[in-house]
Parts: sequence; C-alpha cells; structure tokens
Amino acid sequence: MCGIVGYIGTQAATDILLSGLEKLEYRGYDSAGIATVLEGQLDCIRAKGKLCNLREKLESQVNPSRIGIGHTRWATHGKPEEYNAHPHTDTARRLAVVQNGIIENYRELREGLKERGHEFRSDTDTEVIPHLIAEFLSSSSSISPSPLLEAVRQAVNKLEGAFAIAVISADYPDEFIVARQQAPLVIGFGKGEFFCASDTPAIVPHTNAVLPLENGEMARLTSLGVEVYNFAGDRLKKSPRTLNWNPVMVEKQGFKHFMLKEIYEQPGVVRACLESYLNDDWQPESKNSPINLGLSDELYRDLEQIQIVACGTSWHAGLVGKYLLEQLAGIPTMVQYASEFRYAPSPLTPNTLSIGVTQSGETADTLAALAMEKERRAAYCQNGNRPSFQPRLLGITNRPESTLGQMIPNIINTHAGIEIGVAATKTFVAQLMAFYCLALDLAYRRQTIAPTKLEQIISGLRQLPAEIEVILESQERYVENLVHELAETQDFIFLGRGINFPIALEGALKLKEISYIHAEGYPAGEMKHGPIALLDAKVPVVAIAMPGNVYDKVLSNAQEAKARDARLIGVTPTNDSEAADTFDDTIPVPAVDELLSPILTVIPLQLLAYQIAAHRGLDVDQPRNLAKSVTVE
Ligand code: G6P
Repeated sequence: MCGIVGYIGTQAATDILLSGLEKLEYRGYDSAGIATVLEGQLDCIRAKGKLCNLREKLESQVNPSRIGIGHTRWATHGKPEEYNAHPHTDTARRLAVVQNGIIENYRELREGLKERGHEFRSDTDTEVIPHLIAEFLSSSSSISPSPLLEAVRQAVNKLEGAFAIAVISADYPDEFIVARQQAPLVIGFGKGEFFCASDTPAIVPHTNAVLPLENGEMARLTSLGVEVYNFAGDRLKKSPRTLNWNPVMVEKQGFKHFMLKEIYEQPGVVRACLESYLNDDWQPESKNSPINLGLSDELYRDLEQIQIVACGTSWHAGLVGKYLLEQLAGIPTMVQYASEFRYAPSPLTPNTLSIGVTQSGETADTLAALAMEKERRAAYCQNGNRPSFQPRLLGITNRPESTLGQMIPNIINTHAGIEIGVAATKTFVAQLMAFYCLALDLAYRRQTIAPTKLEQIISGLRQLPAEIEVILESQERYVENLVHELAETQDFIFLGRGINFPIALEGALKLKEISYIHAEGYPAGEMKHGPIALLDAKVPVVAIAMPGNVYDKVLSNAQEAKARDARLIGVTPTNDSEAADTFDDTIPVPAVDELLSPILTVIPLQLLAYQIAAHRGLDVDQPRNLAKSVTVE
C-alpha cells in the first residue's frame, strides 16, 4: 500500500526513481511524485493518477541530480489529488518526505504544528512529518553523526502508527534518511550508489545485495555507504544479504499482462514446490515422511487444533487448507479473517498451531493478528498457566525476506517467484501446495492416512504440472469463446462444494477484482437458501463439478439452477455424459482425485476472469481501488 523509493549515487536520480516506482505501482496508483535536490534547491514534482502522468511532466526536464526520493500512492487520508500526492514538504520547502503507512496521531501533531506557525498544504497524515523534522532541525544543536538524521530520529519518536519514510533536504544534499515502523522498507547496496524501496523489485535491476530494515530502525544513506541506527540513536551493525533474483523475473516476457504471465507460470510453480518439499526417493515402505518442510518438531507435538489467519485470496487458500488438515490429518482447523480475529479472537485452546498465510508477508492485519496471538499466549503462560498454551506460529509466504519472515522462525516458502499482477494467481496455487505438503506431513506423522492413499496422492501431485499445462493449452478454445458472450454480463454465480467451495469463492473474487463484474461464490448446496432468487437467463452460473464425494450433489444443484433458466457453465471433466447433458458449456479439466482438483479447477476461473477483463479493455494488472500489498489496517 503506497510504494516509496530513494536513490543516492553516481547516476541521474530521476530515471532510477521512475523505474523503481514502475515496479512498485502494484502498491497503489492514485498519484505519484518525486523530489530531488539540485544546486541547493529542492525540486518536487507530483502528478495525479498513474505514473505515466508524472513521467509526462518530467519529460521536458533535464535534472542531473544524483539524490532523490519517490512515491506511488494508494490514498488513505485525503483524495487522490495532486495536492495530496507525495513527496510532502515543510513550510520553507527545504525538505521532502515520502511515506507508506498511516500516522495515527497526525491530528494532534498537526494542530500543535499549526499553532506554532507551520503552513499545511494537504489533507494527508504524512504532511506532519516534514514539519516535525523541520522543527527539530531548527532547534537541534546536534552535529553528530548528522543533524538531519537526529531531527528525523526525534520526529519518528513522536509518530504513532505504521510507517516507512524516506527524507531528503536541500540543506543536507549528500544524504537521505529512511525509517521503518511496521511498514516494509529495504535498502539496496550498489557500487557507490544506494537505494531504498518498499519492495525488492524496485532494487533488483540495480543490485542483489539488500538489507530489509526492521521495526524501530532507521538508516542514513550517503554515496559512501549506509549507517543503520535504532530509534534511540544507537548505531547497529548490519550486513546486506544476497537475493537470489534476476531482473527478468520482473518483466512481462512477451505476455500482454503480468497476470497472464503469472497464470502461465503455474506448472513451474507447482514443480518448484514439489522439488523443494517432496522427498524424491520416498516409497510407501520408507520409514520417513514423504514431505520435508524443515519445520521444528515443536510445532507438531501433541497438536490438537490449528487456526489459520489470512486476508483475501490467502484466506481462500486457508479454507482449502482447513479441508486438507481436517480430512487428511484429522486436526480441527479454524480459518479466520485476520481483520476480524484481531478484535474478536477465539478463546485460547491448548496445543494450537497458528498459521498466518500471506503471499506478501506484509499484510498489516495478518501480521497484527499473529503478533496478538503470540503475545496473548505468552502472557497467559507467564501467569502460571499450562505451557501447552505457548504460542506456536507458522507462516506460509512467498516472501521469506518479508516482515512475516522476520517475525516467525517457522516459514513455508511457497517458491512462486515475484508476483506483480495485483490479482493473486500463481501465489494462490503455491499456497495450496504448501497446505498439501503440511497436511500430508501431519497425516503421515499422526498415521491418519493409509499408505496406499498417501502414495496415490503423492503420485497425483507429481502429475499436476503436466495437467495444468493441458488446461493452459486448451484455454483459448473454451474460455475465449465464452468471453465474447459473457463480457457484458452484470452478475455471476460460482458454485462449488467440499474442497472446491473455496475455489468458487476465489473464482468470484478474481472476476470482481479485475473485471468489476458482480460475482458471488456459494457452496452449491446453499444456493437454494437464498441466491437462487437471483437466477434468470441473464445470470451465468459457473459450477465446479469434479468426480468424487459431492459430484452428484453438485450436478443436481446445477440442475436446480438450470430449471431457473440460468446459463450453466461447468468446470468439469469431459468424459461424463450426465455432466455433458447438464451444462450449456463446459471448460474441461483433467479428471483427477477430487482432493487434488482445486489446483486444476482454479486455472480456468483465473483465465475466465482475465479474458473477460482484457476483453473489456480494463487494466488487468492494476485494477481500480486495489493494491497488492495492504500494509494499513
Ligand atoms: C490484497 C490483494 C489480494 C490479496 C490480499 C492478501 O487485498 O489485492 O490479492 O489476496 O491483499 O494479501 P497477502 O499478501 O496477505 O496474501
């Protein structure tokens, strides 16, 4: 949510900042701006709307400045207008600040600053920061290590909330300062040049040596190096780590949109998960688990319950996870929206594993829910209660270097590679793979699965990449034909049952997110308890019908919709005459074990949403009002 970048070094800063912001546009695109320092003056250019508007404004400028900061905004406080765009400056326009986050006590700070003569020009919470820094700069007598660093340090100690900031000043043209509290910020180490960004894609085109700041840390970047401090002003010893990424991973590689590229990457994503977590030489008679997640045994010991917290698509992955953990490993599992759980947590239960699922590892609600769970369990045990209530935390994320990764030692890395499209696709499939591995590992250890069934599922998992490829190869024929007829439809219903109910939710979410078409996902059996009233010939119903436990039930639920004139689209194998008779159109998927089918059934739904949005000429990768990483509550 909002992206910030900063640069100091030997090259013209503007181009580097703009290309960095381009990589962060997934975080918000309501406005953008950059500030540089040139010949003792601050130059701040901002534009409403997407980055291209800022680019246009900057085209006529020649700006050789070698230091600057930039921002792409997802509006929280104040409309998406140019006067609310970052960077924000102090009254004298000598220093500029970009921020990602929310300053919760900005009202009282603003009132105080106004009374002391500061002039405000925006409706944002951020604007208090440059004014505060300016005030501390004018009153500070400190010269060591840098007056700007000291003023920023004093200012951040006055701020409440979650924030990551970058600050430059015309009076200190050879340095910029960054600080982090509950919002991501990474520093990049080049040769004689240094970078900061909300996320690594903005940095990898320049260097793979990165240092993610931790909460309560700040840094001073000069062309000579990086000094890291805590908010108390103590110097910290920190070294960068090397990211195993290459810049090509953040390019479209010939695809029209990132989302389409990411959909097509899914066979590789499943392969990567299998290679990472499946023991290659495992046989049913082996004495060890077929899965190796590298997790501490403490997480598993005497496990009685699992609670999953997540948001959005990750929450849907959690629902599939629940099905697997309960049906394969026999562990009662709850799935909670992190934003709800924070304020109404379930009563504490012993021997409970809490799993946070977040592809970005930065979603504020998910992080806060996990932090709360950790705290309340630790406090409960400190009060002399049973140690079985100790916190046990596990993170499932695509970004082990994220805040989640720093917060929780036990992580399942989903290995999906960077995902740029705002609508999650390949990272969802990777999260499902993580849950298959976790549930199978637990089932094996608890002996809740017959060896033959285990073998069958493992062999089924191995075939998934090729089966996804089959779906991708045939998509044009089936999905594109449908799209021409459905692109202007106003409402869709998605039905699924059992393990495919969360996939119905995910199919509906994908369509809403990128095509702006109203869609609802329902458990097929529930349709007659309400949504059936919506059905007529204008409402297409997409039903996921995979052979297995609930196959016949789904087909008869689909018939109920058909009897109300709804157009029925089946995501189903082609080899069944009953299904062929039921559906008006089918998007075929290979006939696999129902338990494994979500990995396949979600693919046509992603494609359907993508094709409809693309057909409608919408901005598939950056849908309106959304951001990929939601770092505010
Ligand atoms: C945002 C994104 C969704 C994502 C959700 C959770 O709303 O637009 O695509 O599913 O955040 O993100 P996370 O990074 O925690 O999985």
